[in-house]
Amino acid sequence: MLQTKIIKVSGESASPTPRQEEAIRCAGEILRQGGLVAFPTETVYGLGGDALNKDSSRKIYEAKGRPSDNPLIVHIYRMEDLPVVAQVNDAAVKIAEAFWPGPLTMILPKTERVPAETTGGLGTVAVRMPSHPVAQKLIACAGGFVAAPSANASGKPSPTLAKYVAEDMMGKIEMILDGGEVGIGLESTIIDLTVSPPQILRPGYITEAMLQQVLEEVDTDVTILDENSGQAPRAPGMKYRHYAPKGELTIVTGDAEKVVEYINLHAKQNSMSGEKVGVIATEETLHCYQAQVVKSVGSRMDESSIAHHLYRVLRELDDEQVTCIYSEGFTAEGFGQAIMNRLLKAAGHKVITLE
Ligand code: TXA
Ligand code: MG
Repeated sequence: MLQTKIIKVSGESASPTPRQEEAIRCAGEILRQGGLVAFPTETVYGLGGDALNKDSSRKIYEAKGRPSDNPLIVHIYRMEDLPVVAQVNDAAVKIAEAFWPGPLTMILPKTERVPAETTGGLGTVAVRMPSHPVAQKLIACAGGFVAAPSANASGKPSPTLAKYVAEDMMGKIEMILDGGEVGIGLESTIIDLTVSPPQILRPGYITEAMLQQVLEEVDTDVTILDENSGQAPRAPGMKYRHYAPKGELTIVTGDAEKVVEYINLHAKQNSMSGEKVGVIATEETLHCYQAQVVKSVGSRMDESSIAHHLYRVLRELDDEQVTCIYSEGFTAEGFGQAIMNRLLKAAGHKVITLE
């Protein structure tokens, strides 16, 4: 067992103080020595190791309990480092100019500097330049290349708060940098630039429409919202039953009043048969439900609030040991596509549609 140190650092909007900078330098040193440090990014917390050190990547898989064929994202902090890990093409330069630093990951052919352990044996590499000041400083202090999956144990929702990182990683890693609650709350958009036209493998804050303004043509992996497409997802990580709460989750969509009626009826029936029922509602409908645990995930007027709270709500329902969960559904357009993609995965695609 390792002694995991938890150190408070600044959030996204402020620069680290001199004392916090010292802590980040110390975290960078841990990474250089082959250790692991969890850190905040603008999307979710990452579990960092030296991306160019195969032993560090092995340790990441071990700490997460993650299958080692599921590749890691290499995080950089400046553009001139991209060619060190990836073969850069025109599309990559355009995308980087438009969206970096920020919540976008690109897949490119890898260079020989990146060990096969980091890419799960693939000839391609995922690269992202995060905008969070703590992440940027840490990557710089670590030597420029930090492999970081989300800092959850495999199969749990990605952590949006350091306390959830601690829950999953205490004793398994050297340090957690606690930058408070992250902003976006869902993982970065992943775009594969090794295929033509480029293809979105995981939806996120950067939407297809935003990418289409920069690249002429962009496709989206059909498996993102449709489990019956008969195809395997192209991002290996998307095939696992991810982001799963302990309770059995069902999404109920359709006419808003009927959704409330359906959920209330079933919540009542389920609790009579001994289940502890949780409901994922919105600001607009919070007062409509009668169930043991009712939580608002955000407002329908502001989908970024829903993304921001979703993983926290799933974790809280676990903490309350809810055994059966009903969630309202959301429009799968724009950023909503990322929200529904994660919710569908959490529900194992269990959806009730009411006309
Ligand atoms: O927002 C994020 O991207 C966060 C923060 C920490 O930066 N990281 C993150 O990493 O979500 P992770 O490991 O949880 O998800 C990485 C996803 C997985 O689904 C993986 O299969 C896919 O990226 N991926 C990585 N390298 C790939 C590659 N070469 N080809 C296809 N998919 C790849
Ligand atoms: Mg993850």
